[in-house]
Amino acid sequence: MTEPAITVRPATSADRAEVHRVLRQLHPDLPEELTLPRVRQEARTFVAHDQDAVVGVGVATFVDYGYGAYGMIEELVVDAQSRGAGVGRALLDECRGWLMGLGAEVVFVSAVDEGAAGFYRTAGFSDCTGPWLFVR
Ligand SMILES: CC(C)(COP(=O)(O)OP(=O)(O)OC[C@H]1O[C@@H](n2cnc3c(N)ncnc32)[C@H](O)[C@@H]1OP(=O)(O)O)[C@@H](O)C(=O)NCCC(=O)NCCS
Repeated sequence: MTEPAITVRPATSADRAEVHRVLRQLHPDLPEELTLPRVRQEARTFVAHDQDAVVGVGVATFVDYGYGAYGMIEELVVDAQSRGAGVGRALLDECRGWLMGLGAEVVFVSAVDEGAAGFYRTAGFSDCTGPWLFVR
């Protein structure tokens, strides 16, 4: 038997009902009002500053495709001379609060090294386990 020719293309709003039907195989409790083609995405950059200059930057992104909204802390860095004084935590709290306020159910971060991972663990983050996989 020959395989059917399959084409992959971006979905349009005309596909909504069929998208819903197929996704229900993965999420049986999917809400009726899912609007998959209309993904809500937002990003915000936060700065921490003292009286003279910016001393730290945080960048957060938010994604909501109608089921399981989540956020990412994309960048978080504090000037070397300003570290250890609560600036990183203040930026992290602001990014996290903004993401949760938008409706994020979970916030992810990728730590550059074990030191950064320790900073996030101290703030309550847990190492990813379970179903998460990645590719570079
Ligand atoms: C990681 C980084 C953002 C932390 O910023 P910071 O301003 O020095 O951190 P804070 O002073 O706000 O620390 C907040 C808390 O985290 C703790 N902490 C900081 N670094 C830590 C580490 N390496 N391991 C464990 N805990 C740590 C602090 O002890 C403090 O705890 P407390 O609230 O109980 O006193 C900063 O060191 C940095 O910019 N590093 C280089 C870039 C980087 O690694 N960014 C992370 C993105 S992957």
